[in-house]
Amino acid sequence: MKTTAIIVAAGSGSRFKSDIPKQFLEISGKPVIVHTIERFESAPSVDSIVLVLASSFDFSIYSKVVKIVAGGLTRAGSVRNGLNAVDTEIVAVHDGARPLVTVDEIERTIAKAKETGAACLVAPVTDTIKSIGGGEIADTLDRDKLRRALTPQAFKAELLRKAFENVEINESITDECYLVEKLGHPIAIVEGSSRNIKITHPGDLVLAEALLMDRLKA
Ligand code: C5P
Repeated sequence: MKTTAIIVAAGSGSRFKSDIPKQFLEISGKPVIVHTIERFESAPSVDSIVLVLASSFDFSIYSKVVKIVAGGLTRAGSVRNGLNAVDTEIVAVHDGARPLVTVDEIERTIAKAKETGAACLVAPVTDTIKSIGGGEIADTLDRDKLRRALTPQAFKAELLRKAFENVEINESITDECYLVEKLGHPIAIVEGSSRNIKITHPGDLVLAEALLMDRLKA
């Protein structure tokens, strides 16, 4: 089953407070998006890559990048634009702002999606999580039953297309699994590392660089 990775990197980075979108800032001498593309170029299960971007980018050196698609107003809109450019049976959606994903995580997530139809890379929750209401703690959640949803999230393309059908795209759709959950289709979890951070705030760049250096030492 052929697989396309959609890498969404068309965000404006409003939380980042930088003129340059966060995916084009450098860590360890290369833009964040380049680290991310390199992980997918190195993953044997990935046949092609669709990049979703808000600005132009020279992708000629990346052999798997087949298309560059314009972003949408929200992340979900960007994913939908990317999905329209996919012609393979499997699709893996990944945040361009997650450069620390490993090839092993990509491979295991895609393999699980080929087997089950839908798979989500997750990380454990190490803090105690409270639900809140009215300025007070309402409840303590059982963290053994909680996971952070990371990317990639991989699916049979047909299933993801169905999940996007008749959906009003808005900012509350923060991942693809949410839409597939609404269809009632089971989604297998793939345990991943909490090091697969999404660069969101300026301090995350420092952390990402330290984590990359640590990986190179290993
Ligand atoms: O906004 P957030 O941090 O959740 O974005 C996750 C990923 O989605 C980032 O890589 C960002 O560039 C991308 N994105 C996008 N189009 C948007 C908003 C976010 O491709 N309109």
